[in-house]
Amino acid sequence: MSAAKLVIGNWKMNGSASQVRAFANLAACEWPGCEAALCVPYPLLPAAQMAFGATPLRWGAQDCSAEDDGAFTGEVSARMIREFGARYVIVGHSERRAGHAETDGQIVGKVQHALAAGLTPIVCVGEKAEERDGEQTAMVLRRQLLQLVRALGRDLGSIVIAYEPVWAIGSGDAAAPGMIDHTLGFIADMLTFHAGSSASAVRILYGGSVNPRNAEAILSRKPVAGVLVGSAALAPADFMDICKAAARCSTPATSDAT
Ligand code: 13P
Repeated sequence: MSAAKLVIGNWKMNGSASQVRAFANLAACEWPGCEAALCVPYPLLPAAQMAFGATPLRWGAQDCSAEDDGAFTGEVSARMIREFGARYVIVGHSERRAGHAETDGQIVGKVQHALAAGLTPIVCVGEKAEERDGEQTAMVLRRQLLQLVRALGRDLGSIVIAYEPVWAIGSGDAAAPGMIDHTLGFIADMLTFHAGSSASAVRILYGGSVNPRNAEAILSRKPVAGVLVGSAALAPADFMDICKAAARCSTPATSDAT
């Protein structure tokens, strides 16, 4: 089985159709061992579909509704996102938890709709600086994940989890690789405790100030299945360097032949 590392770019509220096209050129290069995607603002989904359709680069969105359709002004459903060929959707990013008061319960609903629409949800979790300082990281992560684990059952294996400590996002200082190991190990253990064997298929990423200089040190850690990248995903050369680091860190595919 191949253990390709995932590199997901989160463009946040940045980018343009011409920037999308600039990434199509680099996407022409194959990175064996790296699965890469850009999560763009909704209006750029058609440009992403057109530019990346014939490349190995995938695309996605940064949020979806917890409803199918109806009177929800300004909302976008997972099915609508999927219609543009998207593979992924980020759910529960800390900027949405903080700025839009998203609750863990709403996030469960979004994840279920994403899965029903055929998207792979990337569920973000992570503690704030004061929670880290108060040694509450484990408690916060457990709270953010428990409802989800209970609601998903066997579907748990179809999601991706991104550990993004809020204090590391946009700070220029990623968490130390040893700390990332420790926290991702905690998340994996917690999932296994509550969900048994479905937990083993969950890919757990790290996000927060990942850049071409620190990517390899982070991606080479065994529990790290990939990275969620913000600002460094806006420049094609930086994103490509992170993808190359991911390819170097991937486990070679094992042959099924005996
Ligand atoms: P930065 O890589 O800019 O710190 O952003 C991380 C992030 O929030 C990705 O979702």
